[in-house]
Amino acid sequence: MTKQTNRPLGERVTETAVFLYGKGVLRPEIGIILGSGLNDFADRIDKPLTISYNDIPNMEAGLVSDHRGQVVYGIYRGKRVIIMAGRFHYYENHDMDKTAFPARVMAALGVKRFIITNAAGCVNTEWNAGELMLISDHINLSGNNPLIGKNIDEAGPRFPDMTYTYSKELREKLIAAAAAKGISLREGVYAMFTGPSFETPAEIRFARIIGADAVGMSTVPEAIIANHSGREVIGISFLSNMAAGVLDKPMSGAEVTEAALRIKDTFAEVVDLAIEI
Ligand code: HPA
Repeated sequence: MTKQTNRPLGERVTETAVFLYGKGVLRPEIGIILGSGLNDFADRIDKPLTISYNDIPNMEAGLVSDHRGQVVYGIYRGKRVIIMAGRFHYYENHDMDKTAFPARVMAALGVKRFIITNAAGCVNTEWNAGELMLISDHINLSGNNPLIGKNIDEAGPRFPDMTYTYSKELREKLIAAAAAKGISLREGVYAMFTGPSFETPAEIRFARIIGADAVGMSTVPEAIIANHSGREVIGISFLSNMAAGVLDKPMSGAEVTEAALRIKDTFAEVVDLAIEI
């Protein structure tokens, strides 16, 4: 597939959405973006339509965090669901257009509810690693914004309001539904650093002072795009580790992946509920 990244972003988004529609990705209601170590969720869809990013115009994997790099589509829990298994992190591409592109395509395909997930470091010292947090709000410390550049007016306004990005009503419903299954969820503020180096202890103290409960290297670009298009957003952070300096020990990427494996089933239950509520 030839790369034509010089064409206007809006054209590329439309081309990709039309391509996926042609392949049978028909009017998805729910769009799920899976975070590090959490991609196995995509296997839950029965008889999925699976398309490799490498076969999708404008989505060539290049640098993608997961070896899959796949769009997975199907009926799940009675809803038409599209999953992006494999994320384009900002730290991999240094390009916000690329990072947020899957979210733009999902919005163009008609996704009404975005479920955006990630692994994150726990900044709040009253909480523990291994817990799940619903994102109530975010702080964008990336120094960039996916909406910088010519606005795509058909998608949303030049200056979108961000007051209600993570629906309070959906958070309340999800917390109640999870509690009924014996799963407790935290609620808090997610701060995005670019990575890929983990934060320093001083950066984590700074994040705490400015109101963050969790830190990570993703989610914010996609949430901004979903909100720009006026779609619902549920953000779920898996707090895989205590953030740098909270405990007197070094950080590692392997620790994050291992912890994600342990939470797999509970995480899937919560995403199921996020689809159903
Ligand atoms: N910091 C940033 N990103 C992360 C972390 C962290 O501690 N854990 C998982 N993703």
